[in-house]
Amino acid sequence: MTHRPAPTDIAIHPLIAGRWSPRAYADRDISHAQVLALLEAARWAPSAYNVQPWRFVVFEKARDPEAFARAFALLVPFNRSWNENAQVLIAVLADTLDAKGAANPSAAYDAGAAAMALLLQAHAQGLAAHAMGGFDAQGLKQAFAIPERFAALSVISVAHHGDARALPASLAERELAPRARLSLDEIAQFGGWSDAG
Ligand SMILES: Cc1cc2nc3c(=O)[nH]c(=O)nc-3n(C[C@H](O)[C@H](O)[C@H](O)COP(=O)(O)O)c2cc1C
Repeated sequence: MTHRPAPTDIAIHPLIAGRWSPRAYADRDISHAQVLALLEAARWAPSAYNVQPWRFVVFEKARDPEAFARAFALLVPFNRSWNENAQVLIAVLADTLDAKGAANPSAAYDAGAAAMALLLQAHAQGLAAHAMGGFDAQGLKQAFAIPERFAALSVISVAHHGDARALPASLAERELAPRARLSLDEIAQFGGWSDAG
């Protein structure tokens, strides 16, 4: 399955409604040029003071299978189970310190914005991309000598869309379940905060 658009209450841009987090991947190469386009999209995200605290460590199965395997091994077992056909793993890092060495309170916010830009670009390129928090962040930093000041926030796997029917039954079910969100009433209030909201 490649299409699973959000059943939005109000019409929104198809790129945003159409992005989702697939687990059915096909075992087909992704070109380096496609990967660079994902990173370019992330590069143009907004950030506080334009500090651009996001950093990415990219593992491409086709170009560096040894590094890819080492990164893959740091995913939690559940994530390894459906990522067998992943072609690219992108570790999303945030520089927690600014140029003066002070804490940057916006680092994770900004890196998240960059990650979303990357995910949307992947969807626009017809690729499947899925963010994961289920990985050994400390292990990743140690394995790839990432300095202490960087927080490892997520790993995004990227692949071509595959066939959901090839997934184990429980995962195939999740792949096909309706997409759900809190209602607008639950997430937004107008003119102030009310506990009844
Ligand atoms: C920071 C973050 C961490 C996530 N971690 C995982 C994960 O470890 N494994 C997984 O299968 N999905 C993971 N997801 C995907 C979410 O489950 C998914 O985004 C959510 O269910 C909404 O579905 P959608 O992206 O298809 O709209 C993560 C998403 C984010 C943003």
